[in-house]
Amino acid sequence: MSHWNHKDLLALGDLTAEELLMALDTARAFKGVGERALKKVPALRGKTMVNFFVEPSTRTRTSFELAAMRLSADVINMEATASSLTKGESLKDTALNLEALHSDIIVLRHCSAGSSEFLARRLQASIINAGDGAHEHPTQGLLDVFTMREKLGRIEGLKVAIVGDILFSRVARSNIAALTRLGADVTLVGPTTLVPEVFKKFGVRVAHHIDEIIETTDVINLLRIQHERQRKEYFPGLGEYVSLFGLTKARAARLKPDCLIMHPGPINRGVEIDSDVADESRSVILEQVTNGLAVRMAVLYLCAGGSGIPTTS
Ligand code: CP
Repeated sequence: MSHWNHKDLLALGDLTAEELLMALDTARAFKGVGERALKKVPALRGKTMVNFFVEPSTRTRTSFELAAMRLSADVINMEATASSLTKGESLKDTALNLEALHSDIIVLRHCSAGSSEFLARRLQASIINAGDGAHEHPTQGLLDVFTMREKLGRIEGLKVAIVGDILFSRVARSNIAALTRLGADVTLVGPTTLVPEVFKKFGVRVAHHIDEIIETTDVINLLRIQHERQRKEYFPGLGEYVSLFGLTKARAARLKPDCLIMHPGPINRGVEIDSDVADESRSVILEQVTNGLAVRMAVLYLCAGGSGIPTTS
């Protein structure tokens, strides 16, 4: 059995297959804790976690907060707009001040790729990347893989299609890193402008027609168009995007009967996914959110030095 030797979680590309499986197995045990009458464990009692979000979030921020509370940690939530970043204080100085207040774990979401690594190199506190620009979103990648493994029983050999704005997606990069390391067969699907051939170097296939995967894929993971990161037009218009790459009802009818329909959220109903398809029985979008809580408990626990699964308090 290998050990978790990371104080930080910056990218799934940094983890071995054994470490990925350890995180997934720990999350599975914590999911069980969440189903008990007494949902709290004392694992992080006495520790302080700061949730520092410089970009908006619903799912990630809330589930990190809940995860830390379930582990009995003290939690502070910081929004960039209400912090001294608005007065010109740097990210480094802000983080050093948080550490001076004895923060043990800083969960950082930031628009700049590499921001979490920048802090991890300078602070003793554990830094957990909650999404850094278009680089990685490691806990989202873990919860996606967790959901596939829970629902389909394996990762190795699974056909996984990731459809949409791959170029600007940190979720895609984290999924690619974990899925390829665990032996899945990954295809990236989208227009040539958003899915350049250069992605093949990560050990994935590239397809520019959704029909190439629609009838054979085991998992279809739809991504939102990341307008906030795009600096020019990458396709003629949303109507054309929907007609070529949207998971419409007609396309969903051609998916395998047990194909998992996934989306990291937030979803844009009627764009990358039809509204009825988002709510149909093969869609696990809300189960992904539930699994995110268990995954974030596991990551906080492992990065704080935990091993084995603690009992309830
Ligand atoms: N999937 C995801 O990161 O959602 P939020 O932006 O709401 O955290």
